[in-house]
Amino acid sequence: MRDVGVILAAAGSGSRMGRDKLLLKLGEYTVLQRSALAFASCPDICGMAAVTRSDLLDTVRQQLEALSLPFPVWVVPGGATRQQSVAAGVKAMPAQAMYYAIHDAARPLVTPQEIARCLADAKRYGGACLSAPVKDTIQQADAKGFLEATPPRNRLRSAQTPQIFDAAWYRAGMAEAVRRGLDFTDDCQVFRLSGGVVYLTPGSYANLKITTPEDLPAAEEILAKREGEARDGEKE
Ligand code: CTP
Ligand code: MG
Repeated sequence: MRDVGVILAAAGSGSRMGRDKLLLKLGEYTVLQRSALAFASCPDICGMAAVTRSDLLDTVRQQLEALSLPFPVWVVPGGATRQQSVAAGVKAMPAQAMYYAIHDAARPLVTPQEIARCLADAKRYGGACLSAPVKDTIQQADAKGFLEATPPRNRLRSAQTPQIFDAAWYRAGMAEAVRRGLDFTDDCQVFRLSGGVVYLTPGSYANLKITTPEDLPAAEEILAKREGEARDGEKE
């Protein structure tokens, strides 16, 4: 059933990268194109709203049209914060979208299998987020820079995307966030205001977010390895 609307969050400024990271090429496609392409084989998708900066609307539209995705794509202007950008995507969603799959356009290496697993969990529990165990011990600092708390590492995960939610519940969480004047960096926080639960679907370290310049060679290496494996698979 085509009941999932994808919201591709692509309205950031790439300040830590120092340039428009979503338009950088990874092999034959840009970061933005790869993030969109990962959804192409998912049979549940009814459409994709790509939320972008006003100055990039035409570029993003052209890049996504070039992919000939098997569902409609809408390109809309985003907002000053991530939460506002996602809200713009929600506005562009068709009524048939019973679930929203929110994905960072800066995560080009997510696989169709990871998306499928996250979606199955979202349909079962109402909300699901790909996430991976943290490798480092995480320290919480106080305002003066001293150690305040060290949460147990075995309970900690780093949040990835996609994050997939029941659409009506997500909208309820959004309305509550606006009512309380809250602006979150993570969509699970928005969704949980509705009272919904989020299952943490095990993700892979390879689903990295292109954030700083050293992420690019790491992404290229993962991609080269996958393409090598795909070629070996064809030979067999
Ligand atoms: N994003 C968005 N709207 C915003 C801010 C971020 O749609 N107002 C998107 C980004 O385009 C990115 C994703 O959210 O795909 C994750 O954000 P991040 O990696 O922080 O990207 P940027 O905000 O662009 O980078 P930076 O924080 O370094 O400026
Ligand atoms: Mg940011």
